[in-house]
Amino acid sequence: MSEQPPTDLVTMDKIVSLCRRRGFVFPSSEIYGGLGSTFDYGHYGVLAKNNIRERWLRAMVQERDDIVALDSAIILHPRVWEASGHVEGFTDPLVDCRTCKLRFRADKLDDAQCGRKPSKRPGETPDCDLTEARQFNLMFETTVGAVQEAGSRAFLRPETAQGIFVNFKNVLQLARRKPPFGIAQTGKSFRNEITPGNFLFRVREFEQMEMEFFVPPAEAEEWYRYWVDERLGWYLAHGLRRSRLRIREHDAEERSHYSQGTSDIEYLYPIGWSELEGVANRGDYDLNRHTEFSTTKLEFVGQDGERYTPFVIEPAVSIERILVAMLVDAYDEEVVAERERTVLRLHPQIAPIKAAILPLIGKSEDMVAKARALYEELRQRHFVEYDDGGAIGRRYRRQDEIGTPFAFTIDDQTLEDDTITIRERDSLAQERLPIGEASAYLDDALARPWATPKGD
Ligand code: GAP
Repeated sequence: MSEQPPTDLVTMDKIVSLCRRRGFVFPSSEIYGGLGSTFDYGHYGVLAKNNIRERWLRAMVQERDDIVALDSAIILHPRVWEASGHVEGFTDPLVDCRTCKLRFRADKLDDAQCGRKPSKRPGETPDCDLTEARQFNLMFETTVGAVQEAGSRAFLRPETAQGIFVNFKNVLQLARRKPPFGIAQTGKSFRNEITPGNFLFRVREFEQMEMEFFVPPAEAEEWYRYWVDERLGWYLAHGLRRSRLRIREHDAEERSHYSQGTSDIEYLYPIGWSELEGVANRGDYDLNRHTEFSTTKLEFVGQDGERYTPFVIEPAVSIERILVAMLVDAYDEEVVAERERTVLRLHPQIAPIKAAILPLIGKSEDMVAKARALYEELRQRHFVEYDDGGAIGRRYRRQDEIGTPFAFTIDDQTLEDDTITIRERDSLAQERLPIGEASAYLDDALARPWATPKGD
């Protein structure tokens, strides 16, 4: 994190409050007082996350010939994590304060707050009594089987990537691939973060989306640059503003042990510029290590006898970091006709609900009948919502707040000529359309490229 955020940035508190108010995200186990930095997703949160995953899979797998999907187990053979280096090295330096009993990352003391009031940096008050830093492994341990005994120790995966490497041979043979080709996986990962926080930004349980792209070593640098550009383009195509995104290349000291080059795609979150996604050139580290530990040779052998260990280019991100970036980017407050409205200007493909179907007068049986018929038609193809409760203005505002891009209103004129009003979330423009064309209108509108009205 660095630099002060510009003043027009929405605060994280506003995002948390909207997510809570509209049922996107709840604190987990809330009736038991919550479990720190763990969250449950409500209806709109689930739909938005599904959309992010679906758009990622579409770009990674559906629209390409060179990447296939995989879904590996969360609990892998414990030797996997020895080979990967996680047992030995997936650690953060930890210090305890004997006075306030809090724990801190030794390398992040400047960003932490001590447990005493008024809160200061740990170590800053005379009362602070910090221990020496010691290495703390971030993997969650568990045991496999009914008896807890030697050999039953296992780990919840801290990244999805290793499940891909250990399936390299299967995919190479059965999917009949040859480098350059990729394997994509989405799924939960678990890290016992010492200092989780900033809402969904750093949590202990999150859903990763990782793709390992296996390439001839001589092409690694070219593919690494290609994937940085490709992933940046994905964010722009999904509505994030260019001015809120930047690429930051790690210098040699910052890189992970396996990396020959890493670039973070950073987003200007309310906490400052921070990592949204990482793109790394992992070299042949992983395949070599798994070859060594499993004694199964993980290499490519061509028909002409050519043989080599591919290098791996990896774009890795979590749905949580994307969701927060998209909510922050989309959040707007404005005054329209002397009334305030909060609106999420989400990309229509990411918005949880694509259209609201609203009879102008909820007590009019004729309007309700037409509206429900339209709703039944549209719900076959999209997540749409029917709402006939309360004043129309309030119903529009409710949809604005969850980012619904279109509202179809059935009114008196509909009963005369079968046309409806379409209200567009961002411009508030309204136009009339025959009710029979609503479905095609929505399909077309969702398929069109979209740019945020908030500018660059
Ligand atoms: N396989 C490489 C890998 O896991 P990483 O930089 O540790 O690399 C990749 O994680 C991505 O996963 C990050 O860029 C971020 O989007 C996400 N991520 C990591 N830790 C997270 C956490 N505690 N909470 C939410 N997302 C996290």
